[in-house]
Amino acid sequence: MERFARLAAQALNQVLESPIQPQELETPPNPKMGDFGFPCFRLAKQFRKGPPQVAQQLVSELKARNAVPAELSVAAVGPYVNFTVSQDKVLSALLKDILAGADQGAYGKLQEGSRGSWVLEYSSPNVAKPLNIYHLRPTALGAALDRIGRYRGFRVISINHLGDWGKQYGMLSVAFRHFNIPLDRELSMKELVDLYVKINAEAEKDPSLEEQARLDFVKLEQGDPEITAFWQKCVRISLKEFDHAYKRLGVKFDHIWGESYYKEKLAPMLETFRKKGLLVESEGAWVVPVTDAEGNELPPCILQKTDGGTMYATRDVAAALYRQEKFQFDRMTYIVGGEQRLHFQQIFAVLRKLGADWVSRCEHVPTGLYRFKDAKMSTRKGNFVTLEEVLDLAKSRVTELMAKRECASAPREGAVGLSPEDHAAITEAVAVGAVVFHDLSTDPARDVEFDVERVVDFEGETGPYLQYAHTRCLSILRKARETGQLASAADAFYDERLISRLTKPEELALVKTLGMLPLHLERTLQFAKASQLANYLIDVTKAFGAFYRECKVLGEEPELTRARLMLVEATRRVLATGLSLILIPLPERM
Ligand code: ARG
Repeated sequence: MERFARLAAQALNQVLESPIQPQELETPPNPKMGDFGFPCFRLAKQFRKGPPQVAQQLVSELKARNAVPAELSVAAVGPYVNFTVSQDKVLSALLKDILAGADQGAYGKLQEGSRGSWVLEYSSPNVAKPLNIYHLRPTALGAALDRIGRYRGFRVISINHLGDWGKQYGMLSVAFRHFNIPLDRELSMKELVDLYVKINAEAEKDPSLEEQARLDFVKLEQGDPEITAFWQKCVRISLKEFDHAYKRLGVKFDHIWGESYYKEKLAPMLETFRKKGLLVESEGAWVVPVTDAEGNELPPCILQKTDGGTMYATRDVAAALYRQEKFQFDRMTYIVGGEQRLHFQQIFAVLRKLGADWVSRCEHVPTGLYRFKDAKMSTRKGNFVTLEEVLDLAKSRVTELMAKRECASAPREGAVGLSPEDHAAITEAVAVGAVVFHDLSTDPARDVEFDVERVVDFEGETGPYLQYAHTRCLSILRKARETGQLASAADAFYDERLISRLTKPEELALVKTLGMLPLHLERTLQFAKASQLANYLIDVTKAFGAFYRECKVLGEEPELTRARLMLVEATRRVLATGLSLILIPLPERM
């Protein structure tokens, strides 16, 4: 449908003063009203007319100039100029793109690297603690944008900016010594966390420990070998733990460059700031006074403490400068919790003061938190629920539901004859799919409401529901092959001669919906919201459901069956592509 959106935009641009982009067209709520809508509110304001009048005027101008190509028809619908794509053109053009396009099996894929570079920073947890469930927000969104960005032709550079530097590592080194823990003793993540809790409890009673921690961090920054060894141990334990969770989610980074990665760059950078007269002394610390992009004063950004130690912000400024120098990026996106809004305003302001014009290409995408319906989880101390605990909780719910279903409808196609390994793999895939989909379908800036029964529900608008729709397409195709209704190696799925067999409105509606994939991928990237794509995939599943209810596929007269099998395969491909791009695993059976 992207191509038709482009045609519609081109037509409009012949009559508009300032040109529009295809992405600016909206999707009318009801397909009967048209496929793309151009809202006239802004123009109406400009011309001091009613939006419907403007819409009508635009339509007559379009017609007078013969600007609308044969594939489209145009009409004013209230305040919108709506375009509708003609039926046979839609069916043949879209099905051909999806089933026989140059990008075989990868509908809407653009050549990687053809569209500029995008530095994408996401996940970025703090070391010496397990991944909290709220880390799933920036991790899942980042990983989805990472995959979609590459798919749509960007050169994505993904970075995990681990929180592996700062005073808390001074505190951990104090703990190692205070409790006499030898460096070579094996420690689990849990023991490490306990150690940190215990030393903080001690420090409540004995404030000199705080002071020692501060000094230890200064020593760490100066490269003290003993403290560095403690620190390395903490990082190693944490990375192993993170890796386990990242593997379950299918998340990989180009670079794991934590805050410590920039440690050698901090002193020379501060020197530059000083030389340029940007650093001001304030109560013994060194700060950069800053304003936001509109010139409003912000709290000053502290870059160096009284004791010479650096700050979280210092490392961020150094990281941004390094990334710009190394990648000359076209866009840099930080996916980080909303509570750090001010922090990023300050960082961007400091860079602006330094004269970095490229800061206009940087953005912070704020993410929300998690809230639990389950009282046991919501009242946890420090709200500490780990990501893997939640995955496991979902997993036990999946097991429960699968067992119920097998009892109720045995022997059911698909579930029977599975080996225990297959069973385990499916359970894991469904649990991960459920949790990730629920997260990504929630607007990133909002908090996720987590209720395991709703998240794993096989009938609701959930990950499992989408995974199930995909397996249903697979099983129809499998059956078609087994019964000889589809050649076993049907790589030439598209058949032009069969297009005329598709005449039902549900068939047309389904194909139009499938054709929206590239447009939704583009919007997802533009707004940095995977919820855009997640909700679209629900629409695909609904359109497929409506088609499947109205149109019998197998056992019809051979050409009709074959024509409809094109739709099943096209749906399967769009679902497989869309779901994989948002990290939802695709079990073959459920
Ligand atoms: N480690 C930080 C935290 O867990 C998030 C880091 C975000 N990224 C950044 N460049 N500051 O709160």
